[in-house]
Formats: sequence, C-alpha cells, structure tokens
Amino acid sequence: MHRGLGQTGVVGQLKLGRGTRRLGLRADMDALPIHETTGLPYASKVPGKMHACGHDGHTAMLLAAAQHLAREKCFDGTLNLIFQPAEEGLAGARKMLEDGLFEKFPCDAVFAMHNMPGFPTGKFGFLPGSFMASSDTVIITVTGRGGHGAPHKAVDPVVVCAQIVLALQSIVSRNIAPLDMAIITVGAIHAGDAPNVIPETAEMRLSVRTLRPEVRDHLQERITAVAYGQAAVYGARAKVDYQRRYPVLVNDVEMTHLARQVALDWLGEDGVIPDMQPLTGSEDFAFLLERCPGSYLIIGNGDGEGGCMVHNPGYDFNDACLATGAAYWVRLAETFLV
Ligand code: NI
Repeated sequence: MHRGLGQTGVVGQLKLGRGTRRLGLRADMDALPIHETTGLPYASKVPGKMHACGHDGHTAMLLAAAQHLAREKCFDGTLNLIFQPAEEGLAGARKMLEDGLFEKFPCDAVFAMHNMPGFPTGKFGFLPGSFMASSDTVIITVTGRGGHGAPHKAVDPVVVCAQIVLALQSIVSRNIAPLDMAIITVGAIHAGDAPNVIPETAEMRLSVRTLRPEVRDHLQERITAVAYGQAAVYGARAKVDYQRRYPVLVNDVEMTHLARQVALDWLGEDGVIPDMQPLTGSEDFAFLLERCPGSYLIIGNGDGEGGCMVHNPGYDFNDACLATGAAYWVRLAETFLV
C-alpha cells in the first residue's frame, strides 16, 4: 500500500501470477461542505460535511472487490486500487498524476464507477467517446472610471458587464455548431455598494462547459474576444482570467466496449442502461483518461419517487448498489487480468 499521492490518496496493489497486464480501478473518497438533512441513523456526524455524492459508497465497493480478489486469487497480473481524494473541484486526480501515479503504478487501462440517481438501481451505464463535460471558470474584471452623479465623466463598468452578458449569449447560438453542446453561465456579478456611486470596477464569474476539446478551445477564444471587445466599445478595460479546470471526459472506445461486455455477459441486456447519453457534469477522472485508455461508467442509484440528486442535503447512497458494484469490479478485474 502506498500513501501520500495527492496528499491523502492511497494506492493498494495486488499482484498475482506471471501476467504482465496492469489494471487500475479508481474510487473517489471525498465529501462535500453540505449539512446532511436525511435524518438517517447513519447520517454524517460532522456538522456541515456529508457524503452527498456517494464517494463513500464508491470507496466501499472497491474495498469489497479488493478483499474478494485478494482472497479468491482468480486473476493473473497487477491490480492497482486507486483511492483518490478531492474529486469535488480540487482536481485530486491531477495531483495524484503529478505525484507520479502512473510512473509508480503503470496501468494498461483504468476504470472508474460513479453512482447516478435517476437511473434504475444497480444497472450500469456505458458510453464510448465524450461522456462528461469540461468545466472551466472565467473571471472577467471590467475596469471603468468611478464617479459621482455626473455619469458622462465616468465610465460605468456595470453597463459594460450588462453588454458582455448579452453578447455572450450570441456565442452558443451563433459560433458553436448546432449539434455541439456548450454552456456559458454568468453565475455571479459583483459591483458597487451605493446607489449614487458609479463603481470603478465590476467582476463577473462564469461557468463554461462543453463536450468536445475543440469546442472548449473555441469557447475560450470567443469569450475572451467578446469581453475585450465590449469593454473597448465603452472605453473600459477588461481582464480575463480563464481557469481551465476539468477537461472533457473521453472514454476509450475499445475499453468501454470491454467494460460493457463484462456487464452484458454477467447480467444480460437487462443489467445495462439503454441509450446512455452524455452528462453535463464534470469529473476529474478525465485527467487519468488523458494519460491512459479506460472508461468511466455509472451505476444507477434508483429512479423512484423522492430520490435526491447528488450534492443535495437529502441525498442517500443506495446501499443496494454495494454488492452489485463490487461484484462488477471483480468481474472486470478477472476479465482484464488473464
Ligand atoms: Ni461525485
């Protein structure tokens, strides 16, 4: 067992036989700054922190699979069990890579599983190619000239921000191909304190998502140009801090086919979610897939009434998935490591 990759990451290794194949299975471990309201007997005991994304369930499934595989010894090769911290926005996967994850634990393929409310309990979802969106944050600071009541002597950054918000709407509608997905959300605008003062600066915060790396680059180019251009029109200046956070998650076609076949051989068509579509959430496992072929799959958390989405204070990981998810990992390992 190796500790300390990405600060609190843990990698466990199981080696058997003479096989040269190396498989990586990743479970995320982190919680969220949300106060749990489920009232369940096993609810979080830490105020303001809960496993609202089910990462504790992912960790439990991989540990259970590891225990079974270590005991039954039905594979031949090297299994790397990757327990990753800080998936929720802090890019723990990238930190583990920077700390030498694949140099210390080389993998021929790497897989991860995430529970997903809204899909039938214990059914698996697979999609080759782009599966989850990139997620970037953009901070635009507009600097004008502050002033008092005489507006013609000032440059009002609030008016400039308003024009930028409207101009941004034209990017998705006019610059992106209709069949490509792109999201530009202005989630925050901050400026000024008083009704009778034109502020010197205004700040906008954007969330930008897409499903293709090329579209991601194009959005960055257009958003930057719109901010600079609109500011210039009104005699203000814009500064654009474009923070590329999580890349598009692209599943390897061959590895996704293999992962799906494992589920089909075990459970038949009934165990697999039909017509899986891409998701607009993002996931730092995308960094691992940039370096190693593999696939990210989902396991349904239940589609009944009253089921909560992840990141909701009422969310509850469906324990009925534990055995199914663990058994899937065992089958995948035994299929890959031969
Ligand atoms: Ni999650």
